[in-house]
Amino acid sequence: MSLKEKIDIERLPNHVAIIMDGNGRWAKSKGKERFCGHQEGVESVRVIAETAAELGIQYLTLYAFSKENWNRPTEEVNALMNLLVMTLESELETFKKNGIKLDVIGDIDNLPQESRTALSNVMAATESFNRMTMVLALSYSARWEIVNAIRNIAIDVENQQLNSEMINEKIFTKYLTTCNIPDPELLIRTSGEYRISNFLLWQLAYTELFFSQKYWPEFRREEFYEAVVDFQGRERRFGKTSEQIKGK
Ligand code: FPP
Repeated sequence: MSLKEKIDIERLPNHVAIIMDGNGRWAKSKGKERFCGHQEGVESVRVIAETAAELGIQYLTLYAFSKENWNRPTEEVNALMNLLVMTLESELETFKKNGIKLDVIGDIDNLPQESRTALSNVMAATESFNRMTMVLALSYSARWEIVNAIRNIAIDVENQQLNSEMINEKIFTKYLTTCNIPDPELLIRTSGEYRISNFLLWQLAYTELFFSQKYWPEFRREEFYEAVVDFQGRERRFGKTSEQIKGK
């Protein structure tokens, strides 16, 4: 039985989030420049987006550039931003062919104008697609997002648009950049690192975690199927007992 055949289509994770790690190490292991790793990483982005859409996953969130990544050498930051623009322009057909809608989370105002234009063009062109939403986390960090939400809540309280008594988890969630997106059910991190790295800290509260030893450029169809099969073998208890879950 192939890995794909082992997947129960009725119990797919609704939202898969991925920390795409190991582009640089993959390149080094092949004696290539770091940039080659990012280029090969884009191939994985395409394959995984297609695979997830074909399976019937509703949301795929990719950690493409963190706030901390701004501290990388300027050359690498510029190369990544250019790669993003080139990829968005060249992959519009992939979005269309697969019915994928593009969304973005993060401190977008910080991105170069060219990147923002490329993003809004693809978002506008894919707005009506509903097979799967691909969310790119760009200039994103969860602590930034949470502080930003708190600031906006404070502003609304000050303007009397919100009463402090009303603040609860549901209201708080509406102030996050992910307000229209359900929490991930599965988080994948590649390259054998076991960290969350400031990604979706609020949203990952009950998410199942899957760590792959493969570098991101090597993470393709079979690796994705493996993560989904592993997810389907988990018992999700949300703080309840195993007996409560089985008896429900
Ligand atoms: C992590 O590898 C990867 C990134 C910081 C960038 C991810 C970007 C891409 C896959 C390409 C652009 C994306 C899109 C959506 C067009 P690393 O550089 O941290 O690897 P290392 O830990 O081995 O150095």
